Amino acid sequence: MATPDVPVSDTRQPLGPLAERGWSLHSSDFADADATVSELGKLGDRLGTRVAGRAGSFEEIIEPHGADDAHPRSLSARYGLGALPFHTELSHRTRPCRYLLLGCIAPGSPAAATMLLDWKTLGFSVEELDLLEGTPMLVRSGRRSFYSTILAPGGAFLRYDPGCLEPVDQRGRMALALIEDRIAGASPQAHQWRQGDILVIDNWRVLHGRSPSDRGSGRRLARILINA
Ligand SMILES: [Fe+2]
Repeated sequence: MATPDVPVSDTRQPLGPLAERGWSLHSSDFADADATVSELGKLGDRLGTRVAGRAGSFEEIIEPHGADDAHPRSLSARYGLGALPFHTELSHRTRPCRYLLLGCIAPGSPAAATMLLDWKTLGFSVEELDLLEGTPMLVRSGRRSFYSTILAPGGAFLRYDPGCLEPVDQRGRMALALIEDRIAGASPQAHQWRQGDILVIDNWRVLHGRSPSDRGSGRRLARILINA
């Protein structure tokens, strides 16, 4: 892709692009998974505090899952190996984590890209932002389900995940349709993974998704989640 890589070892301004466009890419020639995971942790610890993922772990290895062997409430359970739609990580928590860090242990074959989309480029009008900020939605998370809005007060973050957001009235249906419509017409960036790549994503600003994958592709990413 056109953006310059930032070596992990460059400690002068390694996270500059993160502030400018909501994500940054750090490349290394780490050949083994342990080194990538270790760098992932170092970058994450500079940004904030680790948060446990859905399975309770502070460090996860993610692989494409078919619908039949995925966590029942995950997007994979609904979309399987097809394209995973854009979403905010941990939308089912009252406050989604601030940063999402992904490290490439193996890009897999065929490789699947990670898609990135800054919600502030979706062109919402003032009225549309009001709709997103003022319309209650049901956030499904089993016994911990709650009501919230897509846009946090003041636009601090966008909560969007078609797997857990449910409208409760006509305005809610309008709000979801609005986002789906804008995402469908957007021009996201696609990151094609190479072994050792690390992506740092501002989860409050940049939605992420995955292009279609294949069972047994061998694609493996390490993931950590950070509160800040
Ligand atoms: Fe995700």
